[in-house]
Amino acid sequence: MGTEQPNHIDQKNEQDMNSPLHQLDDWEDDLKQRYPQDGEPSNLSGGTDSERHEKDTHKPNEAFRDYAAEARSSVKEFYRINHQRQTFDFVQSKRKQYLNLNHKQMGIWEAMEFLNTLIDDSDPDTELSQIEHLLQTAESIRADGHPDWFILTGLIHDLGKILCLMGEPQWAVVGDTFPVGCQYAESIVYYDFFRENPDWDHPIYSTVNGIYEPHIGLENVIMSWGHDEYLYHVVKDYLPLEALYMIRYHSFYAAHREKAYEQFFNDQDHQYFAWVRKFNPYDLYSKSDQRPDVAELRPFYEGLIDRYFPSKLCW
Ligand SMILES: [Fe+2]
Ligand SMILES: [Fe+2]
Repeated sequence: MGTEQPNHIDQKNEQDMNSPLHQLDDWEDDLKQRYPQDGEPSNLSGGTDSERHEKDTHKPNEAFRDYAAEARSSVKEFYRINHQRQTFDFVQSKRKQYLNLNHKQMGIWEAMEFLNTLIDDSDPDTELSQIEHLLQTAESIRADGHPDWFILTGLIHDLGKILCLMGEPQWAVVGDTFPVGCQYAESIVYYDFFRENPDWDHPIYSTVNGIYEPHIGLENVIMSWGHDEYLYHVVKDYLPLEALYMIRYHSFYAAHREKAYEQFFNDQDHQYFAWVRKFNPYDLYSKSDQRPDVAELRPFYEGLIDRYFPSKLCW
């Protein structure tokens, strides 16, 4: 037994290293700090995050500030590992592992319930569940009178996060995405951490265009591995192209917010990124304190799902 202990400790260390975020959604909260709504503090009900937290939970502000500082440093550590380990070869290995879609057969609602089993350190009294985030996103799109496929896109956009339940570490599921096989854009968050990536001084991958031709079209550019790319492949036969762009590139902040990597865009990419930009505020700013009534909304959304998807999809 004595010999098993160091092994166990190694595994635990590796696991801790792979999961610096206490809550998977901490990186999304960090995005709201980076891209506040209309330049205002990033929440819908006004006040700073810590004021709102105090109002919501009656927990003292100081404790929340400690928590916020801790969350920030865990997000930074998360990006360090993400930028270090998302190499071209790593992405290819994950594409090989997942893109034949032979892991599971599930319907959309079933996948939502599966995602909801994701357990992290979030406080269920104050944090929304994954299903609640998806429903809030969809409901805010619906409230603005958008077409049904747009509402459906809001409902499903994060289902690729089930990768976490298939054993993938946080840094291979969430976080800003970026192309691999070419130079990293300086506008990517925590750009300096890419210096630790083995591709940083690769003779081809470190050049502006890398392995790609200019204006080759984003569909030919390999993105870092995560929930966007995975879900795109699961649903690509069932939704209009506008929806597919929203799903595939919703975490590609360097492009849709910072306009980096346009050297690879073709005319279609320029045209359809308007939809990625239209979607982004619903993803980032639709969280509200009012929890959606899952049971009440379910029949409407199951009807919507049935109009576009078969009863089982390959994951
Ligand atoms: Fe997402
Ligand atoms: Fe989301």
